Amino acid sequence: MGSSEVKSSDKKWIYVWLAICLSFLLGMSFGYFIGNGIHRYCTYEGSDNNDVNQAKNETSVSDFPNSLPTLTTVSSVASSWHGTAHSSTPTNPTVTCPPNMIFGECTCRKTCDDPDGVSGCYNDCGETGTCVCPDGFLMKGNDCIPRTECGCFLSDADLVLSNGDKYVTTDCTSICYCSNDTLTCTHYECSQNEICREENGVRGCHCYEGYDGDCGTLNVNRDCYDIFQQGYTDDGVYTILPSDWPGAPFNVLCNMTSDGGGWTVFQRRIDGETDFYRNWESYKHGFGFFEGDFWLGNDQLHYLTQQGNYELRVDLVTSENMPLSQTYPSFRIANESEHYRLLLSNGDMGRTGMGYNNGRNFSTFDRDNDRCSKYNCAEQHKGAWWYGPTTWCNGCYWYDCGNILNDNCYTACSDSNLNGDYKGGNGQTIIWYKNASGRYCNIKYADMKIRPRQ
Ligand SMILES: *[C@@H]1O[C@H](CO)[C@@H](O)[C@H](O)[C@H]1NC(C)=O
Ligand SMILES: *[C@@H]1O[C@H](CO)[C@@H](O)[C@H](O)[C@H]1NC(C)=O
Ligand SMILES: *[C@@H]1O[C@H](CO)[C@@H](O)[C@H](O)[C@H]1NC(C)=O
Ligand SMILES: *[C@@H]1O[C@H](CO)[C@@H](O)[C@H](O)[C@H]1NC(C)=O
Ligand SMILES: *[C@@H]1O[C@H](CO)[C@@H](O)[C@H](O)[C@H]1NC(C)=O
Ligand SMILES: *[C@@H]1O[C@H](CO)[C@@H](O)[C@H](O)[C@H]1NC(C)=O
Repeated sequence: MGSSEVKSSDKKWIYVWLAICLSFLLGMSFGYFIGNGIHRYCTYEGSDNNDVNQAKNETSVSDFPNSLPTLTTVSSVASSWHGTAHSSTPTNPTVTCPPNMIFGECTCRKTCDDPDGVSGCYNDCGETGTCVCPDGFLMKGNDCIPRTECGCFLSDADLVLSNGDKYVTTDCTSICYCSNDTLTCTHYECSQNEICREENGVRGCHCYEGYDGDCGTLNVNRDCYDIFQQGYTDDGVYTILPSDWPGAPFNVLCNMTSDGGGWTVFQRRIDGETDFYRNWESYKHGFGFFEGDFWLGNDQLHYLTQQGNYELRVDLVTSENMPLSQTYPSFRIANESEHYRLLLSNGDMGRTGMGYNNGRNFSTFDRDNDRCSKYNCAEQHKGAWWYGPTTWCNGCYWYDCGNILNDNCYTACSDSNLNGDYKGGNGQTIIWYKNASGRYCNIKYADMKIRPRQ
């Protein structure tokens, strides 16, 4: 931890100006040059922005015929800044203001200590205006100086800190304090359990969401059910951190109203706005929007479901607006090296829809784990799912294999295809098994959610 003083600005140029001014004065007629603006140049101390131009034009030097153009001149003569302007109007060219000041309307008096003028306004200046500090200048004592000259000017952020303020750099590597008009910056670093972010408008190292106190104590919400149990009963997006999850806490959609609440939603199809024909990497990490269609991510599903015994609930609305739901009392997803295999309990095997998929590995168009010899099921059915081998997919292509495979609403690799093409046809739609004589296809709404089994 090192500590260093930060200079408010590089003052080299001041000396350059000083040298120029002094050399003029030495060689030339003193009064002539004072009257033609050299003094002004010197007191503006090198600032070259528009505010300075404005200040230059409207400032008369006639107040200070005897002053020398040094850096200290301003403070020695400016104590009358409050007074001289009362009898003049803003358009009167004879108005004289102290150095750096312009004649203008009454405004809040901003100072180096109070750069935003929040602690009060200077109002006592009559109807016509007064000498004020232009934009980019601030009062320091009785002087009007460029804001970059304030003791607590932070050049990195182009900011003047008030006394008592602190500022953390955007990457949280440095923290600066302003005290007694002096800026002190020290090294700053987030600990292992902290991240650099804004919290309630304050940037700094803050605990990861979900951590409390010294950031080492986790206020754990392992899933939506944990959150539900704390009394949160509104559907919405919450942050969770499943046990052993290797990354930062992440957001999930919680369904707190359906079937007793506490459901962590990991898949939803509403409107087809999100393309679900995606690769392995995309399904691994998740995609889409919680307001619309999304897949939470296979990694997330694995870590969530290895925390205990989870039940799965699938809610659907068919193309004929018929609501359907199916629950599976045990649902687990293996890890990536096990191809995110679907693990239902044996008793779930006979259940419609996903029963058939039990024990199957997850496949995407670029990761063919389906063991169908004739084709890649993910490609064939334009989805990503726990597809598996059947006599159909091993024996023939779906479209030349008898009536059943000519059915628009058929997958030869699965009884369900909830990540299929929302507007698809030819076995590529969102499909769910009905009974031996058929399937629901072109399903309008689907969501899949999990909850620890009670
Ligand atoms: C001051 O003078 C400069 C140069 O003559 C000019 O560009 C600028 O607009 C003037 N500012 C005001 C406020 O008159
Ligand atoms: C503030 O700084 C000034 C000089 O810059 C010094 O004279 C004064 O003692 C300081 N005050 C405190 C409280 O440190
Ligand atoms: C919660 O589930 C119910 C039943 O499926 C559904 O109507 C509702 O829209 C869901 N809420 C959210 C936020 O998905
Ligand atoms: C994946 O799961 C299997 C079975 O539980 C385990 O043996 C393996 O070490 C796991 N792989 C990784 C990378 O965690
Ligand atoms: C799933 O993948 C594993 C590992 O490659 C393999 O041993 C297993 O047979 C596959 N299961 C199915 C049903 O294809
Ligand atoms: C399948 O369900 C439909 C109603 O959706 C019904 O008409 C049909 O008889 C059922 N078929 C079998 C084989 O159960």
